[in-house]
Amino acid sequence: MATARTAATTAADFLPATRRLTDLVAAARDCRGCGLYENATQVVFGQGAEQARMMLIGEQPGDQEDRSGEPFVGPAGRLLDKALGQAGVAREPVYVTNAVKHFKFVPSERGQRRIHKTPSRVEVVSCRPWLLAEVEAVRPEVLVLLGATAAKSVFGAGFRLTHHRGEVLRLPDDLLTGEIDPRVIVTVHPASVLRGPVRHRDEALASMVTDLRSAAGLLD
Ligand code: URA
Ligand code: SF4
Repeated sequence: MATARTAATTAADFLPATRRLTDLVAAARDCRGCGLYENATQVVFGQGAEQARMMLIGEQPGDQEDRSGEPFVGPAGRLLDKALGQAGVAREPVYVTNAVKHFKFVPSERGQRRIHKTPSRVEVVSCRPWLLAEVEAVRPEVLVLLGATAAKSVFGAGFRLTHHRGEVLRLPDDLLTGEIDPRVIVTVHPASVLRGPVRHRDEALASMVTDLRSAAGLLD
């Protein structure tokens, strides 16, 4: 019989005392806040300057990110770079991270490839303390949520991306503090652009570029 646990473990049990990025990065290496660390190669923490004015939040690392330890370096990252370029935003001063910090996958039928699997609600909620700690550390003026997983991590499971895409939003009340009140824009995920039908790719990319451009416009 399974033993009942009083309180589920989450990333909150592994957070350091400070909100310095270097401390967060170091502590996240030992996170066991959900089961995803078991099969992944390593934690993939956010990357970018502590002073970044804009933060981009994706879903979770993919195969290449899991191997390299850096966010958005695979195919989705290349598309993101292209979209940022078209929107006139340099990636370098932007802080880039994910809602979930370990790669979730299933082996392909022959077991040679690792196929991305969407993280569960429990995993997203377990990992959320890292994301909130990054927001506290960086204090961005603008947050861009790429895709439904990031949007639901911030706004809750009932949030509908298609209803709010491109709107300028604020964080929900429970996440607002006196000092942290970024504008928030929700847009499509670059991987969804790549996975979608070829004939719609240009359109999907264009809508992402529009949203990134309006996010950058909020900084002026
Ligand atoms: N997709 C994401 O959401 N994040 C990454 O880092 C890579 C792919
Ligand atoms: Fe911790 Fe997040 Fe990794 Fe789960 S996915 S073990 S909560 S860092």
